[in-house]
Amino acid sequence: MPPSLSRGARRAAFLPALLAISLVAACGGGSLSSGGGADANGDDSTPVKIGLSVPLSGVYAPLGEDMTQGFELYLKQRDNKLGGRNVTVVKADEGEGPQAGVPATTKLVTGDQVSAVVGIVNSATALGLKDTFVSSEVPLIIANAGADDITKDASPYIWRTSFTNGGVGESIGKAVAEEVGDGEVYIITADYAAGQEQIAGFKKSFEAAGGKIAGETYTPFGTTSDWQPYLNEIRNSGAKAVFSFYAGSEAVNFVKQYNQFGLSKTTPLYGTGFLTEGGVLDAQGEAAVGTKTALHYSDAVENDTNAEFVKAYQEAYNELPTTYAVQAYDAAAVLDKAIGSAETVDGPGIGKALSNVGDIDSPRGTWRFNDKHDPEQPYYLREVQKTDGGFSNVVIRELTK
Ligand code: BEZ
Repeated sequence: MPPSLSRGARRAAFLPALLAISLVAACGGGSLSSGGGADANGDDSTPVKIGLSVPLSGVYAPLGEDMTQGFELYLKQRDNKLGGRNVTVVKADEGEGPQAGVPATTKLVTGDQVSAVVGIVNSATALGLKDTFVSSEVPLIIANAGADDITKDASPYIWRTSFTNGGVGESIGKAVAEEVGDGEVYIITADYAAGQEQIAGFKKSFEAAGGKIAGETYTPFGTTSDWQPYLNEIRNSGAKAVFSFYAGSEAVNFVKQYNQFGLSKTTPLYGTGFLTEGGVLDAQGEAAVGTKTALHYSDAVENDTNAEFVKAYQEAYNELPTTYAVQAYDAAAVLDKAIGSAETVDGPGIGKALSNVGDIDSPRGTWRFNDKHDPEQPYYLREVQKTDGGFSNVVIRELTK
C-alpha cells in the first residue's frame, strides 16, 4: 500500500506539557542530570544549551512552526533531555532571508554561547552562516535548507537532516520526462539558491531522460504576489506541463493562481514536494488537486517509528506531521546520540561525536549520514488527491534514478 499524506483537523492549543517544557527551556531551568559525556570542564551535570533558529516571520514562518513542533516533541518524549542531559533551548527568529537570519543565528553562537544550533529553512541564510559555524567550532544541524554547497567540505560542524536541493530536484526529473513524453516542460521557480539548485537537479535527470524545456522563469523571492504575467507566458509557450519550486505562502499563491488562470485543466503541474506540503496544501485545497511532487516523507510511511510519531504528534498538536517537523525531530535525535557519546559536551566534542551517530531510527524510515553529512534516503512521487480526510499528497511510488 503506498503511503499517503492526509491532513485532517489542524492547529489546536498546545498541550500544557509542551508549554511547561518551553517555559523550562526559555528560563534555562530544569533539574540537573548526569549522563552523556563531561563538558569542557569535566562536569557532566550541567544542562546543555542548544539554539533553535527557524523563521517565526516571513514567507517561511509556517515551516518554522512545524520545525519547532517536531523539535519540541522529541524533547517532551525524552523528559527534556538529550544524551541524558537537561536541555536549555535558546530560540532565534531566522526571518525571511540572510539579512535577518544570519545575525540572529550568529548571536546564538557568539552571545548565547550555545553548544550546537538546529534549524535554518532558507538556503541563502544557511550559506551565509556556514563560515561562522566552521570557524567557531559549533555544530549546525540544518533541518531544512537544501543549499548544495553547504555540505561540500564535510565539515565536522555542518550536518543536515533534510535533503540537498539538487537531490530532491533530480529525484523527479526522469518521472516527469516519462509522463510528459514528446511534449516540452516550462520551468517556473523562486529566484534564489533553493529554486536555482532544485531546477538544476531537475534538469539534469529530466534532460538525461530525453525531456525538453519550453522556457524558464525565475520570480523574485519574497516579493512576488501576482503570477498573472508569468502564467500568460506559460500559456503562450505551448508547454505540455510545468515544473516548479515554491514553498510557504509563495506556494499557496502560485498554485491558487495557476488554477484560477485555468492552467491546471490543460497543463499538469509538477514540482518538488514543498509546493504542496503541510499547511500549504490546506490553504490551496481544491486548486492543488492533480499536482505531482517528490519528497522524502509521508505521514503514512509504514513503519513502527512513524506510527508512534504520527500518534504522538497528533496528540500534541491536533494535526498531522509534515516533512519539516520530521527533519527537526530527527535533528534532535541526532544530537541526542551525539551528546550521549561525546567525550566533551561542547562544540568540538559534539562535532566529533556526530561522525559516529550511525543509523537514525526516523519516522521517514532508518537513514544515516553520507560522507558529505547529508541523509541517504529514498524519495516518493506523490499526487494531490481529495480523500476522506481532506486533501492529501497520496504517494504513488518510490522514485528511481
Ligand atoms: C531552501 O531555501 O533551501 C528551502 C526553503 C523551503 C523549502 C525547501 C527548501
